[in-house]
Amino acid sequence: MRKPIIAGNWKMHKTMEEAVDFTEKVKGMVPSSAQVETVICAPFLFLDRLVNDVKRYNVKVGAQTMHYEEQGAYTGEVSPAALKGIGVSHVILGHSERRELYNETDEAVNKKVLSAFQYGLTPIVCVGETLEQWENGETNEHVKSQVTKALQGLSEDQVKSLVIAYEPIWAIGTGKSSTADGAEEVCGHIRQVIESNFSKGAADAVRIQYGGSVKPENIREFMNCPNIDGALVGGASLDPDSFLKLLEASA
Ligand code: G3H
Repeated sequence: MRKPIIAGNWKMHKTMEEAVDFTEKVKGMVPSSAQVETVICAPFLFLDRLVNDVKRYNVKVGAQTMHYEEQGAYTGEVSPAALKGIGVSHVILGHSERRELYNETDEAVNKKVLSAFQYGLTPIVCVGETLEQWENGETNEHVKSQVTKALQGLSEDQVKSLVIAYEPIWAIGTGKSSTADGAEEVCGHIRQVIESNFSKGAADAVRIQYGGSVKPENIREFMNCPNIDGALVGGASLDPDSFLKLLEASA
C-alpha cells in the first residue's frame, strides 16, 4: 500500500510575509500524516522559517532544486548539506522549468539524485514530454529515457523511497491537464521501466505523482488511478483553502 503524497511547488511566488500567512492558515488543518504525506516546496529564502513553523503539523518542507556538491565556488547555489542542516526533507529535481530555462541535463539530474540520497533528502524527480513529443507519440520513449538516466546508479532501496513526478510540459500552468487515463497510462509505463531497470519490488514501492494543472476540482480523477500516488501542484498550491482541499481529496 503506497501512501499518497501531495507536494505544493510554490515556484517563485510569495514574499516571506505571505509564506508565513499561508502556514498560519493551513497548520492544524492538514490531514494526519498516516493518511497523506504533505510537502511544501518553497523558495530557498523561506525554508528555514517554514520548517520551524510547520514541523509539529504533519507538513514537510522541500526545496525546488539544489547543487550536487556539498560546498564550493558555485555562486548563487545551495548545497544538499545546507538544506539537510535546516531540516528540509525533500527536494524537487529535474523540474521541466529547470531543464528548459537553466539547461539542467539528465546527467546533472542524476548527480543531484545521488547526492540527495547521500545527504538524507528525498528526491522528487520530475519527468515529462513536450507538446511536440506528445503529438508525435514519443511520450513513453522520452519518459523512459529520463527515468533511466535520472536513476542510474541507485540501489533498489533508494528507488523504493523516492518520488517520481510525471508532468507533461504542455499541461504545466496552462489550465489544460492531461486526462486521468492518459496520465495513468504513462505512470504505469514508468512503473514498468522501474521494474525492468530495478525489480518488481522497487516498481511496486516507488510513488509516482501526476503534475500539470491539478486543482481541487480534478484531483480525485487522478488519485483514483491505480498507478498515481499523488500530485505535484503548482498554481493551486498557492492558496491555503485550495491546498487544503487538495489534501482532503487525497487523504
Ligand atoms: O511543479 C508543479 C508543476 O509544474 C505543475 O504546475 O499545477 O501550476 O500546472 P501547475
